[in-house]
Amino acid sequence: MTLLEGRGLSKRFGGVTALDQVSFSVEEGTIVALIGPNGAGKTTLFNLVAGALKPDAGQILFAGEEITGLTANVTCRRGLARTFQVTRPFATMTCLENVAVAVVNSPRSRANGTWRLSAHECLKAVGLGDLAHIEARHLNVVQKKRLEIARALATRPKLLMLDEVLGGLNTQEIGQAVDFIRSLRDEHHLTVFWIEHVMGAIMQAAEKIIVLDQGRRLMEGSPEEVVKDSRVIQAYLGD
Ligand SMILES: Nc1ncnc2c1ncn2[C@@H]1O[C@H](COP(=O)(O)OP(=O)(O)OP(=O)(O)O)[C@@H](O)[C@H]1O
Ligand SMILES: [Mg+2]
Repeated sequence: MTLLEGRGLSKRFGGVTALDQVSFSVEEGTIVALIGPNGAGKTTLFNLVAGALKPDAGQILFAGEEITGLTANVTCRRGLARTFQVTRPFATMTCLENVAVAVVNSPRSRANGTWRLSAHECLKAVGLGDLAHIEARHLNVVQKKRLEIARALATRPKLLMLDEVLGGLNTQEIGQAVDFIRSLRDEHHLTVFWIEHVMGAIMQAAEKIIVLDQGRRLMEGSPEEVVKDSRVIQAYLGD
């Protein structure tokens, strides 16, 4: 079943066409990657889906219902959660408090009295259980990305949208991160829509890859199809 579908999405910023009639689908229970060169329009597509920006044209459907132009708090209520490419935790609040804000403000999570437990579970799920009482400003970049994921999980999403969460990891950590993202899908029954430049991780984890280039959908296919596609090699992967 298709969980998320974009139809002919376009977005302009002044003279810049960030997205030009892009259509795509994300099937329930899968991990779908969104790749492409810097400025291809990946984050803009996330912003349209999650309700941070309104498209100039096109439609977005989530779980069979149209969500085009709905605001972020409404899409969150429907079960859509995203992380930000540039993390922005509440710096002087602890990790637990950062996640608790998401738990308490989410109509989907059972906040009544159990917020502390819920927030702790989310921190544990991302491997930050031991840092619950550390202020977010003391986290390193990798830990801040994980805190972002914990805050997204706290809203009990159906669809988790990750915007470049692997930056700064070494090869071994990337392997662990791939296992972790797979486990999110398997244990939390999530669908994952994932922007990433780390191709090794995408190749291991994604069932489908959508490639954007200069605001257009260049192609979509299995990891094997994408890496040997001459257009993708020329526009993004290189030799
Ligand atoms: N709020 C904005 N105002 C003006 N231009 C914008 C805005 N957001 C994005 N753009 C422009 O739209 C284009 C697509 O940007 P976007 O951030 O979606 O790319 P991206 O694929 O996420 O790139 P990266 O891999 O560098 O994160 C770029 O030319 C960018 O400069
Ligand atoms: Mg981006």
